[in-house]
Amino acid sequence: MNKIFVDACFGKETPYTPVWMMRQAGRYLPEYMEVRAQAGNFLNLCHDPKKACEVTLQPVDIIGVDAAILFSDILVIPDEMGMDLSFVKGEGPKFSDPIRCEADLDRLIGGEEAASKLTYVYDTIKLIKEQLAEDKALIGFTGAPWTLATYMIEGEGTKTYNICKKMMYSNPELLHKILAKVTEVVKFYMEKQILAGIDVVQIFDSWAAAIEPSKYDEFSWKYMVEIADYLKAKYPHIPIIMFPKGIPAFLDKVYGNFDVFGVDWSTPMAYAKEKLGSKYVLQGNMEPCRLYSKESTTECVEALQNIMGGKRHIFNLGHGILPDVPVENAKHFINECHRVSGK
Ligand code: CP3
Repeated sequence: MNKIFVDACFGKETPYTPVWMMRQAGRYLPEYMEVRAQAGNFLNLCHDPKKACEVTLQPVDIIGVDAAILFSDILVIPDEMGMDLSFVKGEGPKFSDPIRCEADLDRLIGGEEAASKLTYVYDTIKLIKEQLAEDKALIGFTGAPWTLATYMIEGEGTKTYNICKKMMYSNPELLHKILAKVTEVVKFYMEKQILAGIDVVQIFDSWAAAIEPSKYDEFSWKYMVEIADYLKAKYPHIPIIMFPKGIPAFLDKVYGNFDVFGVDWSTPMAYAKEKLGSKYVLQGNMEPCRLYSKESTTECVEALQNIMGGKRHIFNLGHGILPDVPVENAKHFINECHRVSGK
């Protein structure tokens, strides 16, 4: 069983500290690029359970991570709510008809009906579970309602978040309605991922840092906690990892019924340990660009081991791996995490 990874998420003592990498399936792996080329484009790959299963398993075999992360994308959720998602080469994700008013929101499908359309995700999970080694865990995931809403409102990635922030300060009721509708879909979506077989849930709030600290709870964290509460009430055996990126000023105020706090690379691990280490298991947090140098990687892994002492910790990057990292350096990171923690 995948007991070691799940035990580590619950803060139990384990023989070694497990490790996985955010965006572990991706453009840095030639094997991934080959399957993506066969699929034609990225979204086709997400929609094809057989191929999505194959690329999910690649990093387990190739770089030796302790947990697989489901291959999909956070933006399949708004896509199935009725927004038309495309990935434009070199520009990233785009929605042709962004949500700017109540009528835009009303035409979106909500709740269980939207979650039921993501059958290809659940089929992918079932296939992965048939093939994943017994001692590896499968991590399912969602975007946080706030991070999803930034794409739904802006229509694409943004540096300024000006359209969502205009809504935040001049029409907060509408933003809350959007967040509440997304939250309902995500609750059912994650429940269906659990029923299909995932072992662990991670909630990515990649754009947490766009919100000023005094507003973060109101517009993001409380919705993430609502999702965690819903899942914990029904599935207490499934650990939940919260990953809000770049919010050191909020660490004093973190609350909620979840198990692991994912520390991003801009937050010092010792600081996170002081603020949250007794309440939550900490995940992280090597700066992903250290992967460009094996020496810098080793230095960071050893420092993390010194700070955490192999207790209540899961090794990971402090955000996603970049496409031009050499595969052997990614492997080196995993090997070093295992070496220092005694695997
Ligand atoms: O970690 C994993 O391997 C699991 C798969 C995964 C992907 N996206 C695959 C993907 C996960 C967990 C995500 C989450 C995701 N998607 C987030 C949150 C996590 C984070 O990194 O902060 C966000 C913000 C997105 C939205 C998204 N999808 C963006 C901004 C992009 C990049 C667009 C680009 O062209 O650079 C994607 C595409 C994407 N999702 C890729 C992968 C492997 C690259 C697509 C490709 O093969 O070209």
